[in-house]
Amino acid sequence: MPDPTIETPRTVETPHSAGTAHAVAFPQDRTCPYHPPTGYDPLRETRPLARITLYDGRPAWLVTGHALARELLADPRLSSDRTRDGFPVTTARLAGVRDRRTALLGVDDPEHRTQRRMLIPSFTLKRATSMRPRIQGIVDGLLDRMTDQGPPAELVRDFALPVPSMVICELLGVPYADHEFFEEQSRRLLRGPDVADVLDARDRLEAYLGDLVDRKRKEPGDGVLDDLVQQRLGEGELDRAEVVSLAIILLIAGHETTANMISLGTYTLLQHPDRLAELRADPALLPVAVEELMRMLSIADGLLRQADQDIEVAGTTIRAGDGVIFSTSVINRDRTLYEAPDELDFHRPTRHHVAFGFGIHQCLGQNLARTELEIALGSLFARLPGLRLAAPPQEIPFKPGDTIQGMLELPVTW
Ligand code: HEM
Repeated sequence: MPDPTIETPRTVETPHSAGTAHAVAFPQDRTCPYHPPTGYDPLRETRPLARITLYDGRPAWLVTGHALARELLADPRLSSDRTRDGFPVTTARLAGVRDRRTALLGVDDPEHRTQRRMLIPSFTLKRATSMRPRIQGIVDGLLDRMTDQGPPAELVRDFALPVPSMVICELLGVPYADHEFFEEQSRRLLRGPDVADVLDARDRLEAYLGDLVDRKRKEPGDGVLDDLVQQRLGEGELDRAEVVSLAIILLIAGHETTANMISLGTYTLLQHPDRLAELRADPALLPVAVEELMRMLSIADGLLRQADQDIEVAGTTIRAGDGVIFSTSVINRDRTLYEAPDELDFHRPTRHHVAFGFGIHQCLGQNLARTELEIALGSLFARLPGLRLAAPPQEIPFKPGDTIQGMLELPVTW
């Protein structure tokens, strides 16, 4: 059912999209897990802004050009508040949870700034660097277990998911013993079959983290959630529901995304043996390799915003109330910025990619994510020189286009 608060599809076309008869559907499934869907090919030619049709038939703008993306992601006239009427949603699942407030990602300034400031000290580069020995210990422990039990192994279950899950548990002060529970709720929240399932998962996570917050009030530990409980809840700056909401976003964003980058990053490197050999020969390339993989894989594809006012941009007007979506996979392959953007190249400048977003909502966990990826991918390929896929690549399942991209399973041997 189209949202009645949104105008019927208009035939407005940007100068760049003139001649495009039908708006492209967004999102679509990838055909190859590390390339944008082939269905986005027309969008790659329609820079910097295109018209798209969402799953429910509603129109929206898709930002496809790199310079415009950075301009608009920094524009306060675009709102991230998912509870607004007509906020664009890319799946029925998301529409069903729209009335629930999402901390950080789903709030605008000044509320956003207040929340973010409380967390910045826990996510600095210095903090991520200080966690290196512990992350290395977690990675080594998981590789020990994998080599004791295998080959073969299922890399998502045995490595890609537990690494970030263990790390975020330690950082937040969430017991890893509960990982099966919260990983399952997180999976349902991001990929559940229907709205009821998503709401149930959200309720369970809220109840679980609410209990944890109550326990931390009585017996403080030394995680980020303990700090929030002691310093912010105790002082009355945040209420219990706000702490729980922050805990949900940190716990989910902290493990799902990085797990997908580890699994898909591994798959991509195994499909590019020359690049992998280059990396093995020169481990100093690791940080740029991680950055290039971030650019190429763009696993969080489709950042959601809504115009709060009319915005004149790229020779057209984005009207107040219009949905504006950023396709990171298309933006990160803008030919005006990247030469041969479909190739994996460890010698290009990649730093300006938008795979972690840009502007006020730019990923809070990026220092941690980069650190985890360097250690996880570096150690995996160093420890297992014979690592290879244990099934034909085209048979290995990956995630559908309406969620964070990554492998569903990754059977490997060595
Ligand atoms: C490689 C893994 C990761 C990727 C690709 C990724 C991607 C992103 C992107 C694209 C955004 C911006 C969303 C938007 O503008 O709408 C974002 C925001 C965020 N990320 Fe990450 N992320 C990753 C890892 C992490 C980790 C490890 C954490 C740790 C807690 C984290 C926490 C967050 C939070 C809290 C936000 C919201 C920030 C805000 O609104 O101020 N992310 N992430």
